[in-house]
Amino acid sequence: MSEKKRILSGIQPSGALTLGNYVGALRNWVELQTEDEYEAFYMLADLHTITVRQEAKNLRKNSMDLLALFLAAGIDPEKSPIFFQSHVPAHVELSWVLSCNTYMGELSRMTQFKDKCQKHADNINAGLFTYPVLMAADILLYQADLVPVGHDQKQHLEITRDIAKRFNNAYSETFKLPEPYIPKVGARIMSLQDPTSKMSKSDPNENGYILLLDTPDAIVRKIKRAVTDSGSDVRRGEGKEGVENLMSIFSAVTGKTMDEIEAEFDGKGYGDFKSAVAEAVVEELRPIQEKYNELMSNRDYLQQVYRQGAQIANRVAMKTVSKVYRKVGFIQP
Ligand code: TRP
Repeated sequence: MSEKKRILSGIQPSGALTLGNYVGALRNWVELQTEDEYEAFYMLADLHTITVRQEAKNLRKNSMDLLALFLAAGIDPEKSPIFFQSHVPAHVELSWVLSCNTYMGELSRMTQFKDKCQKHADNINAGLFTYPVLMAADILLYQADLVPVGHDQKQHLEITRDIAKRFNNAYSETFKLPEPYIPKVGARIMSLQDPTSKMSKSDPNENGYILLLDTPDAIVRKIKRAVTDSGSDVRRGEGKEGVENLMSIFSAVTGKTMDEIEAEFDGKGYGDFKSAVAEAVVEELRPIQEKYNELMSNRDYLQQVYRQGAQIANRVAMKTVSKVYRKVGFIQP
């Protein structure tokens, strides 16, 4: 029997998920499940979330919401364990050892650190600085082969490989070197108000993003207000980033290619096109929202999912930590 490739990925429960998160991450995870060559672990990265100040009650709410959305989007916990990072102590344990094998210099070069320092100038805490070390621990604990991540996380994957190599060289082969997994499809969805920046829930203008749990009315309204250009042709091109972004969204939810979309809307204006995009998005999200509502009224089931996930994750992760502790010279307890 051939070994399955191990996948690990995570999302922070730091707020409501956007359509961009869904198309760029969650939906690809669901897709990966249908391929038998992979074995995946999906993590709710709650430890990472507190690098930015959170209100405890919001964090609790966002954590349960995200768990329900993982399931509503179609992740099958019987195939892929889903767990909270904070339920697996090995993440923090390995993180410490790895931090002793990571240089201040390489951490200060992380673009996300530099960005976050600017955004949260009043709270430049040590966790923000060592964030990539915790992420390296997340990945290396599971000996992951592949890590599905967005472009903004590629640098974190590179440092993970550097840390792993350094440890392997110093203490003998211990960690598998993970590869980023950038999915074939999975267009980058941009802000509806500024198509040069990524769709993000931290956008101060809420018309810039669509949330997975937005009502149909809100979705229609936001898409109608999306910025386009002074022309009227539904096609790609210079200065047409807004329309192109709507086309990417339409393509992502209908499976149609950009060429097909241009042909379909040839001679029709932005009004017709926007109505079609809005309807397609509403229909894509409807079953997810229904499932989400159903799950949120079944707390026992949610608890069962994350407990079972943590149990499996703990087993794998503890094995790695024991190996690491032994290699660095700690006395076996
Ligand atoms: N840092 C990732 C993000 O903000 C989330 C994350 C934490 C993650 N640990 C991970 C992603 C491990 C992949 C693998 O998007």
